[in-house]
Amino acid sequence: MTIPQTFIQELLARADVVEIVGRYVQLKKGGANFMGLCPFHGEKSPSFSVSPSKQFYHCFGCGKNGNAISFLMEHAGMTFVEAVKDLAQQYGMQVPEDDASPQDRARAAEQREKQATLTDVLEKAGEAYRKHLKASPPAIAYLKGRGLSGDIAKQFGLGYAPEGWRTLASVFPNYDDPLLAESGLVIVNEEDDKRYDRFRDRIMFPIRNVKGECIGFGGRVLGDGTPKYLNSPETPVFHKGRELYGLYEARHALRDAGYVLVTEGYMDVVALAQLGFPNAVATLGTACTPDHVQKLFRFTDSVVFSFDGDAAGRRAARKALDGALPHASDVRTVKFLFLPAEHDPDSYIREFGHEAFARYVSEAVPLSRFLTEAAGEGCDQTTAEGRAHLASNAKPLWSALPDGALKRQLLGDIADLVQLNSRELAEVWSGKPAKGPATAGKAPQNEGHTPRGDTGKWAKSFKSAPPRPRLAGRALPASRADHAARLLLSNMAAWDALSNEDHAMLCELPAPHGALFVWLDSQFHDHGPLAWGALRDDMREREFEALALKLMSGPQAESPDERGEAARELRALLNLMLIDRLKQLETEALAASATDPEALQRYRSLHERRRSLAAIKDLD
Ligand code: UTP
Ligand code: MN
Repeated sequence: MTIPQTFIQELLARADVVEIVGRYVQLKKGGANFMGLCPFHGEKSPSFSVSPSKQFYHCFGCGKNGNAISFLMEHAGMTFVEAVKDLAQQYGMQVPEDDASPQDRARAAEQREKQATLTDVLEKAGEAYRKHLKASPPAIAYLKGRGLSGDIAKQFGLGYAPEGWRTLASVFPNYDDPLLAESGLVIVNEEDDKRYDRFRDRIMFPIRNVKGECIGFGGRVLGDGTPKYLNSPETPVFHKGRELYGLYEARHALRDAGYVLVTEGYMDVVALAQLGFPNAVATLGTACTPDHVQKLFRFTDSVVFSFDGDAAGRRAARKALDGALPHASDVRTVKFLFLPAEHDPDSYIREFGHEAFARYVSEAVPLSRFLTEAAGEGCDQTTAEGRAHLASNAKPLWSALPDGALKRQLLGDIADLVQLNSRELAEVWSGKPAKGPATAGKAPQNEGHTPRGDTGKWAKSFKSAPPRPRLAGRALPASRADHAARLLLSNMAAWDALSNEDHAMLCELPAPHGALFVWLDSQFHDHGPLAWGALRDDMREREFEALALKLMSGPQAESPDERGEAARELRALLNLMLIDRLKQLETEALAASATDPEALQRYRSLHERRRSLAAIKDLD
């Protein structure tokens, strides 16, 4: 997909780098710029500056710099296209695709125009409802009775739809205009084609999209009538599965608070704002969807769901868990808060106060724990059957997580719960028949029952590193990789001295070295450092067995107690791989930088890694 340059320029002109960076970094105004702690390198005093006038960030410490798009790529790990789409969605722009046909483009333009007309109609109705509120003492009394101030009512644009079947006719002289029906404001009776207002004698909550346009309404009865809430129907501008009530109003508060509180009701959002939690939103009477979660993560890295403590709340939480799993990457936090039954956030704070609720929020259950709890629901974990059931419940939940450290740790946690080791659990989940006797205290021998390279597949799925365009290290002398591999086979503990990113890169070496590293990585994960004797037994018939035997059979083969030497050699090997990769990319990046900003970005971040690697002493 190619995105026209003109669009990117327009997008960068519209986006605010301070707002984008501010989603991830706490920024303080300092003169013309904003300052904060650099997210790219550890530091204690802020040397990271964001310029609103230049729309540019720059770190005086590590030298990182760029615009809103490059920030999302480098910090949030998005690709160029993802970053552009993310910004476009946030700023209400449509990403044009060069390869769209003229018909498609015309249709898209028509659709945009229709949507604009619909939001205009809804906005106009909202204004009328606000006017009616001012003139309706019972409606004002109702809101006051619920503890809301005039300011808060104004901030959320609350209004009142008066009694009467056609009060909107005073705002829309052509009451038969099909747009009124299409916007959901007017209902057309199918039998006699008679039209009437959907919302009558209700407090009106306008629902706004992230651009601030009115896309629908929720209407609450003033007393105990039913239905308690009436909502706009799905329309071309209103999709309950995607929109969140209060997101527009909360957008700045999300940055300040550092998290979003997701509630279940309109009134919760407004009351929370009134009571000192302006960072709340609500789903619109529907379960929380992955789209909701994705949208929220465009504004903050931390989501706290709030639910009633009863069975219905628990069910809703399960749905939210499903929605959150695909987006729960390592840089994000998802938590679940369960209030006492019969309470929602509004009633809870009114009864127990701001502090008590804040404490509840800080003690919310992390996704990892809720996942294992949910998997274990109804399972008797004191029996093998119950634990097996838990394992089977956990599989789809765990699988929905994006690859990364969280997923990897959870595999271990779930395995512990069901009294297996990680590899056994992975095998159970992948449907591999278990053969061969288990040796005491150790995983079963895996010869024969795992196809070659299969452990590698698992190990790979744990790696969160972005896909790399090509194998590194093709041009390396094999002797270098041999030397590093031998030292590692004798001193497996050295693996721990390297980062996950380093592990991933070594695993990319061409076979058989890469395959050996992949396998050692998974062995290390499951058993910790093993002696050569134990490793040798487990690698029979694997593609790297010959290599390993050759390396470990020479006179100077086994050289234990050289953990430092092994780590140093692995780093030296990584350094060579990076140089090799940089060479490949340099020409490519320079040639492509005009058209493919991603190439330049890849080059820069590798360069960065090489620099930080070189900063570790003893590198030859
Ligand atoms: P609740 O019944 O929990 O109401 O519905 P609430 O939010 O506490 O409202 P108050 O405090 O009594 O005013 C939660 C949400 O479910 C949807 C609405 O979105 C509501 O905010 N709902 C509820 C409906 O759509 N229709 C209904 O009849 C009831
Ligand atoms: Mn309530």
